[in-house]
Parts: sequence; structure tokens; C-alpha cells
Amino acid sequence: MTLPASPRVPCPGRQLDRAPSLPGNPRSFSIVARVTPATTRNRVAVLHGVNFDILERRDPSFYGGRSLSELEHQIEGWAREAGLEPIFFQTNHEGEFVEYLHRLPDLADGSLINAGAWTHYSRAIADALGVAALPAVEVHLSDVEAREDWRKVSVFDGLVVEKISGKGADGYREALGVLARALGVSN
Ligand code: DQA
Repeated sequence: MTLPASPRVPCPGRQLDRAPSLPGNPRSFSIVARVTPATTRNRVAVLHGVNFDILERRDPSFYGGRSLSELEHQIEGWAREAGLEPIFFQTNHEGEFVEYLHRLPDLADGSLINAGAWTHYSRAIADALGVAALPAVEVHLSDVEAREDWRKVSVFDGLVVEKISGKGADGYREALGVLARALGVSN
């Protein structure tokens, strides 16, 4: 599986500036080296789609019974252990999800995406994920391969580094490891 190319590869290194001319010698100048620190690519957006705001009310045999904020709290701890800086987003509105993906390259270096039911049919979200062109890992709490046929389809096929499903919250931990490796972050 090939990684989507990041358009935001930092450009570490040196920038050369001309220092102001010395007084009394208008033609002289010196070269000053300014070192720009390499940017760390460790910002991860954790994106949840439709119906995740009521996670604690959904079938616990599939989704574990915890709330989204409990899940996010756990993910935050794992992300920091892996040397990643997480931000979180959830919406029930497809257009808002698309617009967040439009802004994603300014906000993050990679993403974990659990788009819920949109996973199985939203070409609009898949197109926007492709435009974001950042490494992404698809996560599902439940084992979508072992449920109804329509859940076996993912519109993100070919756009994500990996798909992890059926491991509950631990799937996010695994996905963070995959993303850390894809971003070259080691801890
Ligand atoms: C889900 C699986 C989807 O099929 C379902 O629509 C969800 C949750 C999961 O995490 O297992 O909303 O993405």
C-alpha cells in the first residue's frame, strides 16, 4: 500500500540572508547563516463521524459502552506515549466533516479516521480525504468484516495506510503506532 504523499514536507535547513552593508563601505556585505529548526511532523487529527457523539448509548457488544470523551481521553494518553500530538473532531454533519478535511493539511500531519456509517458510502468524504493527502489510518471499534455485508465496503480503500477493525479501543492504539511509523516519529 502506498502512502499518500504529504504536501507539507518541511524544508529544514539553512536560509541565507544578506546582512546590511557596513557603514562607510556601501559595497561590502557579509553572509549570515540562519538555522531553521526542522519541524516535527507529529500532529494527529482523530476524526469521528456520525453517531459517535452518543457512543455510550450504542450497542455495547459492538462499541464497548464508553462515551466518546472517555475514548478520546484514552487515545490522548496513547498518542502522547507514542510521541504524537492529538487533536479531536466529531460531527454528525457530512458537509462539516468534508470542510474539516479541507482544512486538515493546516491542522495535522496525519489522521485516524472512524467515519462511522459514512465509511460505507460517502464518496464526498473519500474525495476530501484524498485531497487532504496526509497519511491516514481507518479505525473501527467493531469487526465490520463480520457484520452485515454493507459494512464490509469502505470508500476509503486505497486512500488509507491501513484499516484496523474489531479491536475495540485498542485498535486506536495500534493505529497510532502505524501512524507514528508513517510519520517517522519514534518514541
Ligand atoms: C463503526 C462501524 C460502522 O459500520 C458503524 O456504522 C459505526 C461504527 C465502528 O467503529 O465499528 O458507526 O465505524
